[in-house]
Amino acid sequence: MINPDVTQVFNALAEHKAYLDKQKTDIRSLFRDAEDRFTDFSIQVPDLLLDYSKNLVSSETRGLLINLATASRVPEGIQAMFAGETINSSEQQAALHVALREQRPSHVREEVESCLSKMEQLVDAVHTGNWPGYSGKAISDVVNIGIGGSDLGPSMVVTALAQFSVNRVKLHFVSNGDPVHLEGTLRRLNPETTLFIISSKSFSTLETRLNASAAQAWIASKAQSNADVARHFVAVTGNLAAATDFGIDADRVFPLWDWVGGRFSLWSAIGLPIALSVGMESFRELLRGAHEMDQHFLNSELVQNLPVVMALLNVWHAGFCNASSHAVVPYSQELNRLPGFLQQLYMESLGKSVDTAGDLVTNSSAGVLWGSSGTDSQHSYFQYLHQGIDLIPVDFIAIANSSVGNSNEQHAHLLANCFSQSKALMEGKNRAQIEQELRSSGLDDDEIAALAPHKVTIGNKPSNTLLLRELNPSVLGKLIALYEHQVYVQSLLLNINAFDQWGVELGKSLSKEIFNNLATGKSGEALDASTSKLIDLSKEWQE
Ligand code: F6P
Repeated sequence: MINPDVTQVFNALAEHKAYLDKQKTDIRSLFRDAEDRFTDFSIQVPDLLLDYSKNLVSSETRGLLINLATASRVPEGIQAMFAGETINSSEQQAALHVALREQRPSHVREEVESCLSKMEQLVDAVHTGNWPGYSGKAISDVVNIGIGGSDLGPSMVVTALAQFSVNRVKLHFVSNGDPVHLEGTLRRLNPETTLFIISSKSFSTLETRLNASAAQAWIASKAQSNADVARHFVAVTGNLAAATDFGIDADRVFPLWDWVGGRFSLWSAIGLPIALSVGMESFRELLRGAHEMDQHFLNSELVQNLPVVMALLNVWHAGFCNASSHAVVPYSQELNRLPGFLQQLYMESLGKSVDTAGDLVTNSSAGVLWGSSGTDSQHSYFQYLHQGIDLIPVDFIAIANSSVGNSNEQHAHLLANCFSQSKALMEGKNRAQIEQELRSSGLDDDEIAALAPHKVTIGNKPSNTLLLRELNPSVLGKLIALYEHQVYVQSLLLNINAFDQWGVELGKSLSKEIFNNLATGKSGEALDASTSKLIDLSKEWQE
């Protein structure tokens, strides 16, 4: 369903972009024309700053983008989310992950708080050695078995907050359907002292069920009774019946609610591995930080609203500047799993081709996200960002204070690398500068003519920089919530549902059919020629 107000602003933005191009406006010229561009094009909240001045966005561009947010009813969408309205329309659900943070609405308060106390009891029992395994020894290792949202969030946060670990138990994550993942993990563990968390909102995800069954068999091969096996398993799920059928005691099942989407669930008991790693106090700090971002999102005017501005920039880049994807590059080893987490958040949420009314969408969703940590990324794909033909906006994430201290030079070099990359992307180096340099280094005219074109970097490549004061649970909570809300705003701007994922189902159901072919030895004749030949050759090679 096309909203004429939105179409009007889209047209105005397209005309405006054509005007910028005609005037040969680039990011460098925007800096030349406005001395105070940094102040005007940055937003600061406690411990976190967004600098978006290095984008091809003038005051007029920003005004039009804000009009787009208004026409797309973003303020109403934000209110609807916090009010618990049914914003996940195709599944008839609310998306109320904000209720897991602080100030929980009354209709969910009791169950959320009782889940937190249950988590606290488990964390306390495991940390104090009062959760013995079948032989009476204390738990030393915890394995989270889950995939997608039941893995990426907790494993990313456990890695990011490694410096905050209370070092009571070691955490392991098994997600992959490849049996090598579980086997490789179990090889290093002792069944007597290993606790498994089976994390699955549906409790029907094949990979998780298979890994969970293999883990159960591993414990059962050593323990004396079913009751002994049960001591080694807890579950986090919205499907209590399936978890108890599997053999997990009902009082060891932590709830997950329909109104929490898998990729937004690390704030719930899906975050148990986080709490076991850093302790309940730090887990609550994480929730508090996210809550602060929630309040900022709910109460700030559009132009000062971090998630809104970041979403508008993405739509501007994809819809009007032909950006082909979007990279996130944290200059932090601790945040090296953040891009993987964000990939699910963005691509499962924004990978939609119909709008909320079921009509085909016409605008690019700006949802292809990738990246990895700096400085490693500089030595793999940054060449493509600087000189490749595609436009790929980057979110740089820098942390002012290193968790290992700032006393040696290494951290200063890290920050210098981060800031110099965004500067180089913006400024580039033109032919005249390069020719001048080559001439000064003694090359003759022919040599200069041959080499100069390869060295030109056109610049004018957009980027945001998010600067964090330090990486602690609260700041991390803020950062994750910022990206969650950004994705939601993008979905509002494009009028798509960010909270369903029907596309994933097709591959899941087909895999059952193909499994039957592989397992029963039946030929894959009913399938297409490519798939059936791949099945046949795999069987032949297995023999
Ligand atoms: O990948 C599809 C998906 O449904 C994700 O949305 C979800 O995070 C993941 O599978 C795991 O689902 P579950 O928690 O139900 O096992």
